[in-house]
Amino acid sequence: MTSTLLTGIGELWTLDPALDDPARPGGVADGQVVRDAAVVLEDGVIAWTGPAASAPPADDAEDLGGRAVLPGWVDSHTHLVFDGDRAAEFEARMAGQAYAAGGIGVTTEATRSAPTERLRTLTRARIAEATRGGTTCLETKTGYGLTVADELRAARLASLLIEDGELDEATFLGAHLVPAEFAGDADGYVDLVAGDMLAAVAPHVRWIDVFCEEGAFTPEQSERVLRAGAAVGLGLRVHGHQLGRSGGVALAAALGAASVDHLNHLGAADVEALAATAVHPTRAADTPGRLAVQAGPTVATVLPACDLSTRAPLAPARALLDAGAALAIASNCNPGTSFTSSMNFCVATAVLQMHLSLAEAVRAATRGGALALRRSDVGHLGAGARADLHVLDAPAAVHLAYRPGMPLTHAVWRAGQRVV
Ligand code: NIG
Repeated sequence: MTSTLLTGIGELWTLDPALDDPARPGGVADGQVVRDAAVVLEDGVIAWTGPAASAPPADDAEDLGGRAVLPGWVDSHTHLVFDGDRAAEFEARMAGQAYAAGGIGVTTEATRSAPTERLRTLTRARIAEATRGGTTCLETKTGYGLTVADELRAARLASLLIEDGELDEATFLGAHLVPAEFAGDADGYVDLVAGDMLAAVAPHVRWIDVFCEEGAFTPEQSERVLRAGAAVGLGLRVHGHQLGRSGGVALAAALGAASVDHLNHLGAADVEALAATAVHPTRAADTPGRLAVQAGPTVATVLPACDLSTRAPLAPARALLDAGAALAIASNCNPGTSFTSSMNFCVATAVLQMHLSLAEAVRAATRGGALALRRSDVGHLGAGARADLHVLDAPAAVHLAYRPGMPLTHAVWRAGQRVV
């Protein structure tokens, strides 16, 4: 058992859940940020945090030179398992074309024809890139295979990376788009997703997701897929209200999904429905499944980089927080709508353009992401949490928004190991 003492911390954001202020559910309580602080890591977890003056001894010590330290980012929404490039689609969009779900088919073709070892190399490179940006807990989805064999291949790849400790969460997104071979038979494809495809993929994932949107899946089709997933013990997630008021929010709230993501087009009733789940959390089903997911709110996950890259109306993060909804910020790294895993960029955008305070944005990108993944071991630096630390090359976290676009990630620890 080796312990490490980190000192010289100008500002330490523990976000310790034990110190939450019920009056500020989406914010940060005074005691959750400590100045002139120190941290002790032991056996991959946080053993102690507090003022440097009262730090206990440890086997090793490192001085961080007055820098700010945050929990590593928890990125709860990415699509990392893919091949191919959609830069031309992006350029066309910047020239005025609207985003449509159909682009997923282009990546599906490229992904299906990629050798497995290449897909693995590409995915690992994207994980490494996210880590270099301060992300220490990462979810990825399948969804660019859309056959039983190709979805299974993506899910296996993700679950092996989880076993190797490179990735944290895997989500089955067979219901991403109706593939070309099922054109005109969306219900036939839904039968496949909720039947043989789910049966093959479920042992390798913890979550099931659906793109509930015009051009992808209707609320009825989405509900069939989600209920089938819940019945085998998977937790539920929804892509909703990206292109219009798709019904995904009501569906996610009604089924007790852990998260509904995108949220660019919301009415007052949608905001209220999400806020209500924070007061009266529900769960998808009382499934005795091996991976049953705990109760909690349906987290409103906003994706600022995607909103910019698609020139969509920004998701109303401010209104969601003000109404009392639980909020997460994620990168949505994917080749179509958001080819970045930079959570520093997402947090800066949430402050500068979505009108969150820095504290609200940091919390949404750490504790918020953890809640969206129903995890209590990450997203904070309370005693016993996984030792996931993001050291900024700045004396205070507000520099993330004050100096947008600057390379502020100085060092990263994941599970007690220095990885950057
Ligand atoms: O979250 N919206 C659906 N899925 C992705 C986009 C995928 C793509 O266009 O390749 C997203 O934005």
